[in-house]
Amino acid sequence: MIPESVSMPENNSSNNLIPWLPTERTCACPKGAMNCLSEREWLRNQVPIWWFRARELNTRFDSFSRQQHPAVFPSVLAKRVIKNYSHENETVLDVFCGVGTTLYAASVLGRNSVGFDLNSKFTDFINRRLKLINDDHCTTSTSTHRYTRAGQHIHLVCSDSRKLPEYLPPASVDLAFTSPPYWDLLNQPPSKRNLKNKRYLKQNYSNDASDLSNELALDGFFDSIKNIFGKVYTVLKPGGRCVIDTGDYRRRGEYIPLSNLYIKVLRDLGFELKNIIIWDRRNEYDIGLFSYPQNFIVNNGMFEYLLEFKKNTSQK
Ligand SMILES: C[S@@+](CC[C@H](N)C(=O)[O-])C[C@H]1O[C@@H](n2cnc3c(N)ncnc32)[C@H](O)[C@@H]1O
Repeated sequence: MIPESVSMPENNSSNNLIPWLPTERTCACPKGAMNCLSEREWLRNQVPIWWFRARELNTRFDSFSRQQHPAVFPSVLAKRVIKNYSHENETVLDVFCGVGTTLYAASVLGRNSVGFDLNSKFTDFINRRLKLINDDHCTTSTSTHRYTRAGQHIHLVCSDSRKLPEYLPPASVDLAFTSPPYWDLLNQPPSKRNLKNKRYLKQNYSNDASDLSNELALDGFFDSIKNIFGKVYTVLKPGGRCVIDTGDYRRRGEYIPLSNLYIKVLRDLGFELKNIIIWDRRNEYDIGLFSYPQNFIVNNGMFEYLLEFKKNTSQK
């Protein structure tokens, strides 16, 4: 049974559907295996706090990404998630793909990928970096593609992710991994302390009204999240995972528990919450004393959540 709240494709008759989807795994993993991991990798990933060395976080790829985009996740994180939740030659979707970290990580690992981002500044950068062009696999002028030498597809759509059903047929992707905007965090003025330490994000993604970071109210932001992840639910294969990288955020002194709100919204859509992993970012920050001795507050930037959801096999 399909939960009432799950939106069905709005445009089933679209000619824009990506022609190479769906893909099938090509690995020799036994039936029922969740991924192609060794026992050693599985054991490491089971520790619910994931941590990466500075040299893994500061590869050339990632350093260059950070110059182009204010809020990227590192490729080592994307690789670990993709390896944990997919098999070789399966397809990974990122509905807020920024400068393409997920697409890059997927191609390095022999997975196919589809990315959406509405900001052409970012998608133009991906096109140049990953050598994507508007080829025969593209059904609209705003999409680009490359078939890699290793035999994987990388497909990018410069569009609002709400248009997902125009491009992806139902039950066509194996894993969705993404980091949505932290609501309007990038539109907030930096605190005096961050201004002084030059530790703040200097740019917003865009001024586009469809950009989720420009939603004025938290309810409006989560209405859009519900809309997009309802569509993600439809395009995931049964049993497929949706992993969201997010954090909580303190907005003008008020604690905004984004992680809790995602859990509520995705469960309402029919997803099952499977795991919560903490991404420990302590080695990226120098903690200093703040608001002592009046107001004890922790530094929320030092960790993020990886929220893992499953589309249940009994649902279409
Ligand atoms: C946190 S960033 C993702 C960064 C990405 N993980 C990376 O490593 O490059 C969120 C992205 O969502 C995009 N975005 C915001 N609203 C969108 C929408 N409605 N449809 C598609 N993309 C959107 C922004 O342009 C921004 O690049």
